[in-house]
Amino acid sequence: MPVLYVVGSVNLDLIAHLARMPAAGETVVAKSGALSPGGKGANQALAARRMGVPVALVAEVGDDSFQEPALRLLKTDGVDLSAVRTGAGSTGLALIWVSPEGENTIVVMPGANQTFLPTRFDPGPALAAGDAVLISMEVPENVVEAAFAWAVRHHAPVYLDPAPVPDRFSASLFRADVLMPNRGEAERLLGVELPDVRAAKWAAEKLVERGARVGVVKLGSEGLVYASRSGVFVRPARKAEVVDTTGAGDCFAGVLAAGLMSGLGLAEAVDRAMDAAAIAVTRPGAQPSFPYLHELDSKL
Ligand code: RIB
Repeated sequence: MPVLYVVGSVNLDLIAHLARMPAAGETVVAKSGALSPGGKGANQALAARRMGVPVALVAEVGDDSFQEPALRLLKTDGVDLSAVRTGAGSTGLALIWVSPEGENTIVVMPGANQTFLPTRFDPGPALAAGDAVLISMEVPENVVEAAFAWAVRHHAPVYLDPAPVPDRFSASLFRADVLMPNRGEAERLLGVELPDVRAAKWAAEKLVERGARVGVVKLGSEGLVYASRSGVFVRPARKAEVVDTTGAGDCFAGVLAAGLMSGLGLAEAVDRAMDAAAIAVTRPGAQPSFPYLHELDSKL
C-alpha cells in the first residue's frame, strides 16, 4: 500500500489556557494546562494516519525525557517512526498560550529539529509508485529543499505546508503539487496583504501561476480558497464551537494529503480536511484533538 512520508518537526507542547493574555512584565495564572505531543510534522503525520493511510515520519528528536511523550500518540496510532533519528540536541519544545477565544500564541525552542541534516534525503528512503511526500517548514530550509528534491526525483506528489515561511523561500518550492499557506503565510510568500476572500482568490491563482498545481489559501473563520488549472473555488468555514485552534492547520494538511493519496478528488479531499479541522478546533491541544476517519464518516 502506498505510504505518505511526512517530513517536519516533532515538539512537546506545553499548553496554557488563559483567561486573558499577560501584559509585558505581568504574571498570570492559567485556567488549565497540559503537556501534549506536537510539532507541525508530527501533527500532520498523526492527522493523516488517523485517516487510515500508512504514514512514515522523517524527523529528528533529542535523547531526553521529552522524546517519549512527544512520540507517544504517533506510536499508539501506528505511524512508522523508523526514520525518526535521535540527534544530539534536546527534543523540540513549544510553549503555547491559548486565549479564551481559542486563538494561540506559540514560541518554539527547536532543539533537535535544527540538527536535522539534508543528507538524510541523499538518496533517502526509496519511494514506490503511489507514495507521496508532505513537508512543513519547522526544520532547516536546506532540509525542506532536499526533501522536496527527493520527492521530485521519485516522481512522487509533494504537498507543501509553508509554515512557518522562512526569510528565504526558494522559488523551486512553489512547484509543489499542493501549496497550502494560511492567510499570513500567503501574504509573506506573495508580498501583498490579503484582507478579504477576493484577495485570497487572487493569491490562490497566483500560487498556481508561480508553479503550484493547486494553491490553497486557508482563511480560518472565513473558510478557504483554492485554485487549480480548472478554476478558483471558495469554501465557507464550518460552524464550530472553538476551544483551541492549535494544530488545526496541521490537521488540515495531513487529512488533505491522506485524501489525495488515497484517490479522493480535490474538492472531496478539501472538504474532508475542512471537516477534520473543524472537529479539531472544538477540542484542546494539537494531536489529541485530531479526529479518526470513523468520526468524520459518522458526522457526515
Ligand atoms: O501548528 C501547531 C504546532 O506548532 C504545535 O503543535 C507546536 O509544536 C508548533 O510546532
